[in-house]
Amino acid sequence: ALERALRPKSLSDYIGQEKIKEQLGIFIQASRNRNETLDHVLLFGPPGLGKTTLAHIISREMGVNLRQTSGPVLEKPGDLAALLTNLEAHDVLFIDEIHRMSPIIEEVLYPALEDFQLDIMIGEGPSARSIKIDLPPFTLIGATTRAGMLTNPLRDRFGIISRLEFYTNDELAIIVKRSAQLLNMQIDSQGAFEIASRSRGTPRIANRLLRRVRDFADIKSNGVVSKEVADAALKMLDVDNLGLDIMDRKLLDAIVNKFDGGPVGLDNLSATIGESTDTIEDVIEPYLMQTGLLQRTPRGRIATKTSVEHLELLEKVWN
Ligand code: ADE
Repeated sequence: ALERALRPKSLSDYIGQEKIKEQLGIFIQASRNRNETLDHVLLFGPPGLGKTTLAHIISREMGVNLRQTSGPVLEKPGDLAALLTNLEAHDVLFIDEIHRMSPIIEEVLYPALEDFQLDIMIGEGPSARSIKIDLPPFTLIGATTRAGMLTNPLRDRFGIISRLEFYTNDELAIIVKRSAQLLNMQIDSQGAFEIASRSRGTPRIANRLLRRVRDFADIKSNGVVSKEVADAALKMLDVDNLGLDIMDRKLLDAIVNKFDGGPVGLDNLSATIGESTDTIEDVIEPYLMQTGLLQRTPRGRIATKTSVEHLELLEKVWN
């Protein structure tokens, strides 16, 4: 609920993802001008980069309602049918974690996406029959951490496919300052940049760290977030100078010290550090790969020279 208070409500308030904003701005304007329904949109990328926020912004800029659900929540075809038959023309249906939708639901979704028609079976045995229901034209917005997890026929039904990228430190610093203003707190530019540069390129993390740094500043200092206060707070939170947290370091440490730098397979790594393979692939690895600390090869994960050096440095300065 608190996170929602910080979310931008329009494309113009949204910081970063410049390419996506430009494209969506054009597609939204074009369909509005023609009084058409926006094509189905697939948003993919690591968690915390703003997929849900963008879905809300799209529906707002289209001037339509947004109905939200998620892949794992849709159990029976009737669950999806109930949502679809309650939509108004041009509305947005947002399905988060769309890669976790069951194949049965996916089958019901195809004709809905293609022809705005529902094809469902009612009854059982000899009296069972299929009925077709016309749906209002709608926009599906699907969000997923990995586009590769979608079946081809599902992916093919999205007319707009947008990949969210990690944010730059400068973009995150602007987000941190904006959030600080909304939270009525005092922060200087160096303080904002310190939090930004240690947030793994991710606004959700930046906003979470900002709140914790504020607590630290209020209790341990004069409430103003400077670079020094941010640094001390982040150290207390076990966020290192590269922005890595305990799980990131646990993963790198396992590869370097238990598997001799790798290559090590995903399942082996998962068992060693006690995290699910999904969490490793979706949450932990993308940022480590982006920053050149980890490589995925056909034979397994490899820790780079940079990550070996980073762990050695931490050993010296932290312990
Ligand atoms: N808060 C979280 N993400 C944001 C973004 N991309 N722009 C502005 N504020 C945000």
